[in-house]
Amino acid sequence: MKILLLGSGGREHALALKLRASASPVDLVSAPGSDALAELGRCVPLDLEDPVAVAAWCAANRPDLVVAGPEVPLVAGVADAVRALGIPVFGHGAATARLEGSKAFAKAFMQRHGIPCAASHTVSDLAAGEALIRGWSYGYPIVLKADGLAAGKGVVLAHSEAQALETFRAFLAGQFGAASQTVVFEAPLVGMELSLHVLVDVDADHATYALLPACQDHKRIFDGDQGPNTGGMGAFGPIPFLRPRDIERMRVDLVEPTVRGLRQDGLAARGVLFLGVMWTASGPELLEYNVRFGDPETQVLMQLLDEDLAALLLEVAEGRLKARVLKLKPHTAITVVLAAEDYPEGAKKGVPITIGSPAVTVIHAGTRKQDGQWLTNGGRVLNLATSAPDLAAARAAIEAALPQVHWPGMQVRRDIGFKALKHAEAGKTVQDPW
Ligand code: AMP
Ligand code: GLY
Repeated sequence: MKILLLGSGGREHALALKLRASASPVDLVSAPGSDALAELGRCVPLDLEDPVAVAAWCAANRPDLVVAGPEVPLVAGVADAVRALGIPVFGHGAATARLEGSKAFAKAFMQRHGIPCAASHTVSDLAAGEALIRGWSYGYPIVLKADGLAAGKGVVLAHSEAQALETFRAFLAGQFGAASQTVVFEAPLVGMELSLHVLVDVDADHATYALLPACQDHKRIFDGDQGPNTGGMGAFGPIPFLRPRDIERMRVDLVEPTVRGLRQDGLAARGVLFLGVMWTASGPELLEYNVRFGDPETQVLMQLLDEDLAALLLEVAEGRLKARVLKLKPHTAITVVLAAEDYPEGAKKGVPITIGSPAVTVIHAGTRKQDGQWLTNGGRVLNLATSAPDLAAARAAIEAALPQVHWPGMQVRRDIGFKALKHAEAGKTVQDPW
């Protein structure tokens, strides 16, 4: 099967490794790809924000399947343009991608379909926003979200009226261009955050889905959830203290109404939805939709999935996903991110990396190869990933592998999964304070 994979990061490298492990041989082409992806197939320099360019390449090269990694090409309409050629795409059309591309659209969707989520107000007017902040009655922090895509930086938790006003004015003044000219204000939710991925296949005549195991990401740069937010410093799954009835509750309260709502609204879906969930004292609430796989959650999910990935993604892309329980390894998987010295403020590039022989999977997120030497080439540089019978064993396997990979200034969190492990060992459930 000839597959065009869109993207270049750790998520795409993890997908590529799994695609290449499919039972049927996969001829992989990545766009734009990376030096690591080039070791698994050809790379072509396509502009993922240009549907015409991607469709032109597809028309000339006729891949059997296109798999979209990031959200940007989906929001730009790449999946629509390629699907118009009769080529199956794992990735949603632009109309559905608005669930990630516009937070105001996503909140209106959640409210319309009765999906539990934080109370919110959508505002585009300076005076109206200032009045809202001055009369804020939902408690602090005030959560301000730029409506559009802002490379993961468009959410601010304002801890004072002054900070909220300053953030709001900066947003409206164009901090993220058009993306921040509309702002969603949300009441703060408190609880345990988790990532729930669902394969979805929705069209006018059918709506099916298949759940992937719930994972937990670690967004802050330092151990103990300290320091600034990042794209994600490590993840694990499944979550040991989530009971089958907790998963069932998320399925009934969040997933079912989402899939039903897509169909009711005439929004076709052919890909993955990643639900950012906050499990609060009153149960799971939806923080956001992403219309793509999480990074680094994908690195975890690919360790667990015991299916032929190429066949599974094609099933979704062709609109014939069978609702079922996906085959999974009876393991817990974990990934830790090895990040550049100055991440998340910067991404110090060109530092030589030593990679010995770790007994885990090495995933390349931001690297470049020069004269046979791997160099840092991004904020999140490498991921180590593995699975083991339980979370403690998975953590130990990563600890054992860590000395094998290093460079001067490398940052790594050593506590991925630690809090969840302690929570589980203490016999606590998801209803106990996190
Ligand atoms: P989002 O991109 O909407 O997921 O927001 C980014 C991060 O901000 C989330 O991963 C949460 O950690 C946090 N966040 C978003 N919305 C809320 C909220 N209503 N209450 C508390 N934290 C939130
Ligand atoms: N790990 C969070 C994300 O992919 O958005």
